Amino acid sequence: MRQRVSFSLTLPLTLLLLLCVYESCGGSVRNTEAIAPDISSSVNPQPFLPLLAPSPLTAFTNYSIPKLSGLCTLNFSAAGNMMSVTATDCWASFAPLLADVVCCPQFDATLATLIGQSSKYSRMLALNVTHAKHCLSDVQKILEGQGANDNIQKICSIEPETLTAASCPVIEVDTFESTVDSSKLLCACRKIDLVNECCDQVCQNAILDAARTIAAIGMPNSKGVNLLPAHSTRIDDCKNIVLRWLASNLDPSSANKVLRGLSNCKVNKVCPLVFPNMTNVVKECANGISNQTACCKAMDSYVSQLQQQSFITNLQALNCAASLGVKLQKANVSDDVYNLCHINLKDFSLQGQCCYICLNK
Ligand SMILES: *[C@@H]1O[C@H](CO)[C@@H](O)[C@H](O)[C@H]1NC(C)=O
Ligand SMILES: *[C@@H]1O[C@H](CO)[C@@H](O)[C@H](O)[C@H]1NC(C)=O
Ligand SMILES: *[C@@H]1O[C@H](CO)[C@@H](O)[C@H](O)[C@H]1NC(C)=O
Ligand SMILES: *[C@@H]1O[C@H](CO)[C@@H](O)[C@H](O)[C@H]1NC(C)=O
Ligand SMILES: *[C@@H]1O[C@H](CO)[C@@H](O)[C@H](O)[C@H]1NC(C)=O
Ligand SMILES: *[C@@H]1O[C@H](CO)[C@@H](O)[C@H](O)[C@H]1NC(C)=O
Repeated sequence: MRQRVSFSLTLPLTLLLLLCVYESCGGSVRNTEAIAPDISSSVNPQPFLPLLAPSPLTAFTNYSIPKLSGLCTLNFSAAGNMMSVTATDCWASFAPLLADVVCCPQFDATLATLIGQSSKYSRMLALNVTHAKHCLSDVQKILEGQGANDNIQKICSIEPETLTAASCPVIEVDTFESTVDSSKLLCACRKIDLVNECCDQVCQNAILDAARTIAAIGMPNSKGVNLLPAHSTRIDDCKNIVLRWLASNLDPSSANKVLRGLSNCKVNKVCPLVFPNMTNVVKECANGISNQTACCKAMDSYVSQLQQQSFITNLQALNCAASLGVKLQKANVSDDVYNLCHINLKDFSLQGQCCYICLNK
């Protein structure tokens, strides 16, 4: 029987505190274009990085030992403590809230590391689909046994196919290493600068190069130039292979750091919030504000609806603030309501209180 997992109710706060890191960002401050409300002046130009939540909570946790399929050959101890970090990051009730920012990047990194580590023996950087089904189900069971949400696969859109080669033509380690300049790749990605990687994309470019190189195998070419489109599912699938190869050449904790650092750059690029109905804001603030109190009240209530949706990083908050700015402008809210109503980035993100932003990309 499974034992119930208990945990401390201070978790959200703990996670948020752990998520916050201060580092300096050498870049210049960029003004966000195309928004009427100017928020750039009210933010501190330093980066915020959602890093690993370590698992101090393990002390409070009683693990249950799951019954595994016996049909998955991945070595779960080869991922070091990544599994327990993932279980913490995808903690039952918080997984959906922390999905894009914390849980899914950590889950992805763990899967890549498990396959990467096992490739040292299997010499394969992908599982076949039957094997993938068993392994994914085993991983889910182990994580659940450590308190993780029982629906991570769905929350993070991971299918057994995600662990296979999908459309990438190279899965053998030996073929990979004879095709790709693997020392260059390892050099670019062995250790990434978490702050500058998102801006300089040193490792990301090396990964893309490697992915394009293997994706081009077997593609038609014209006069020696292959006809691989700039963006394709094939290249994306090959990126997964590259990440697994990288994970197999790093110790699990470095792999975790690198893979999380890379997904952090992706996470930061979009605004994950759904903007609710703006009727009230438009009514009070559009076409010239007649009653500032009423307008700001409407804005406050609107922004607090956004806050309730999801934890977002400060870079996402910047994008969200910019997107909302554009929406407001389209709705004829031409006054600078952000300044007028003292709304700044921290209002878009519950983390805003404790973290800073990197504005240079
Ligand atoms: C964990 O299990 C042990 C033994 O069953 C029990 O003594 C302990 O109180 C449990 N801890 C928590 C935090 O539930
Ligand atoms: C699994 O990984 C651990 C840690 O790297 C290692 O000590 C152990 O020998 C591996 N087991 C197998 C069966 O390869
Ligand atoms: C899938 O992979 C597993 C583990 O490597 C292997 O035992 C099995 O034969 C493979 N199945 C197919 C259909 O290739
Ligand atoms: C927004 O809400 C108002 C009432 O609160 C409603 O009349 C209007 O149809 C809604 N608009 C949309 C696009 O849902
Ligand atoms: C402005 O709006 C506030 C809040 O809705 C209201 O209390 C106040 O009476 C309004 N002021 C004027 C001058 O209409
Ligand atoms: C914005 O204002 C223009 C001109 O004042 C008007 O034609 C347009 O319908 C307004 N749009 C909205 C969404 O209120």
